[in-house]
Amino acid sequence: MSGKFGKKFEQVCDVLDRHEHHPDNLIAILQEIQEVYSYLPEDIMTYVATALGVSPGSVFGVATFYSHFTLAPKGKYVVRVCDGTACHVKRSEDIIKALEEELKLGGGKNTSDDLMFTLETVACLGACGLAPVVVINEEVHGSMNPEKAKALIEKIRSGETGHG
Ligand code: FES
Repeated sequence: MSGKFGKKFEQVCDVLDRHEHHPDNLIAILQEIQEVYSYLPEDIMTYVATALGVSPGSVFGVATFYSHFTLAPKGKYVVRVCDGTACHVKRSEDIIKALEEELKLGGGKNTSDDLMFTLETVACLGACGLAPVVVINEEVHGSMNPEKAKALIEKIRSGETGHG
């Protein structure tokens, strides 16, 4: 997927050029590359290491240290279930369990094999009045329960496969 000679790879080269291949800019470089791919592919990180003249280990180290870097591709739909206090007392855990079951996730796996869905839990989304809250991409859904949450997934699925 991260084809070395594709358009995205050209963008990686642009990013490196713009930062003059300077290892001090590693974090900024990784950030911009993540914007290109929406995650940090392993072969690209190895390439960046070579281009900057640093060890691959130090690039991987930075990428794994900062939580805003993602090392695995995310699904087209990122489903974030709030597990902040207000949502937690309203049983957000049941929603998480139901979605894990629905999407066949869990045990460290949080993206479906078809790359359609990524399930994440997050701390308070600042919409406690709507607890429990589920956000799918940027869309906020309040007063959720396991059934409603599963219905949202089904709706997306049928929308994706529905029209031809
Ligand atoms: S705790 Fe979930 S929105 Fe605040």
